Amino acid sequence: MKKIERVTELEKQYVMEVLDGEFSSKTSYKMVTRLEKEFAKKMHRKYAIAMVNGTATLHMALEAAGVGIGDEVICPPLTMSSSSLCVLQANAIPVFADVDNDTFLITADNIEKKITSKTKAIITVSLYGLSPDMDPIMEIAHKHGLKVIEDDAQCFLAKYKGRLVGTLGDMASFSFQSSKHMTAGEGGIVVTDDDELALKLRRYSGLGYGSIGLEKGRITKDDIQDPNYERHVILGWNYRPTDLVGAVALAQLERLDELVEMRKIAARHFLNAIKGCNWLRAQKVNDTDEHSYWAFCVVLDTNKVNWYEFRKKFMEFGGDGIYSAWKLSYMEPAFKNMNFLGREKLINNKYEYDYNKVKCPIAEYLQPRMLQFKTDYWDEADAMKQAEILKQTIDYFDKR
Ligand SMILES: Cc1ncc(COP(=O)(O)O)c(C=O)c1O
Repeated sequence: MKKIERVTELEKQYVMEVLDGEFSSKTSYKMVTRLEKEFAKKMHRKYAIAMVNGTATLHMALEAAGVGIGDEVICPPLTMSSSSLCVLQANAIPVFADVDNDTFLITADNIEKKITSKTKAIITVSLYGLSPDMDPIMEIAHKHGLKVIEDDAQCFLAKYKGRLVGTLGDMASFSFQSSKHMTAGEGGIVVTDDDELALKLRRYSGLGYGSIGLEKGRITKDDIQDPNYERHVILGWNYRPTDLVGAVALAQLERLDELVEMRKIAARHFLNAIKGCNWLRAQKVNDTDEHSYWAFCVVLDTNKVNWYEFRKKFMEFGGDGIYSAWKLSYMEPAFKNMNFLGREKLINNKYEYDYNKVKCPIAEYLQPRMLQFKTDYWDEADAMKQAEILKQTIDYFDKR
């Protein structure tokens, strides 16, 4: 039975190194720089740029891709809504494309139907830790000259046709929020192989400082102690993470294999528990692919069992709880009521776009039926126990 710790002496050691350095200009940003180098290496990418969270990384990826006022960006509605809120943050318009019934992921066919002359980029989401079918998506993107941003907030070390997820699009964004495979409480990072995109990501997330370069993530005292120094060459945001985040994330990165493995072990127990049940359906994983199971999700494919009833019984038997999938993004009040802090003018005036009329039938079928189980069990015995309770719950409803 496998057992690990979520946070070890290594994270504490790196944090103490930062605190011992007293955030002086000599030591500051050392951990973030180390994290960026090691993350790029681990993800087989040329550059990694760390930021405050996985929403900021998506926003900056869009800005780097040249997405701006009135452009359209295609994204899935079945995901945590940062995947489309970032589009509005970039003053652009999210256009929702439906997902696949078997994988719950955005598809090339559905993306293609939504492409217009205004489309600038595509955001693909590796929901729950599984990559969409990226080859046909990249093909369409090349055909139409669109940039592809992988939202891999929930996906670390998964494989797509043998390739590491995070190496497939023009850029890939990851989150270190507290529930993610590796965490620093908050934090995010974006990877790319493209020199120009990397420089933009750095500059835009670093207040547009001119002295920030591809490798250099911050300005130094020598830069700024000149009265004639011109700092801001372009509009930028301050999305840089602290070195404390860098320290924790670096230690988690060094332990990433075991952190991911534990989630896969939990998922294997859950998969065993639903074997033979014809009314609970897990995400379909192709033989060529590997799922990293940020969560284990099944669809309740029956009208005989009610979602709330299933959760109640599971918890009565001792289950830890079941999450629902997020409400579809376009059904969130912010979208339905166009509460976009003034940006709705860009959308209304130009396109008469109404999110109340958007229809993604497959996502609308799946979302209310999805049961999401957490996989962050650091003791395999705990995961096994939860899987047994799941089996017990299935048996209860089968016999009823
Ligand atoms: C798919 C997805 N995209 C983006 C985000 C945003 O990441 P963050 O919370 O770090 O801003 C999250 C998670 O939180 C997510 O699950």
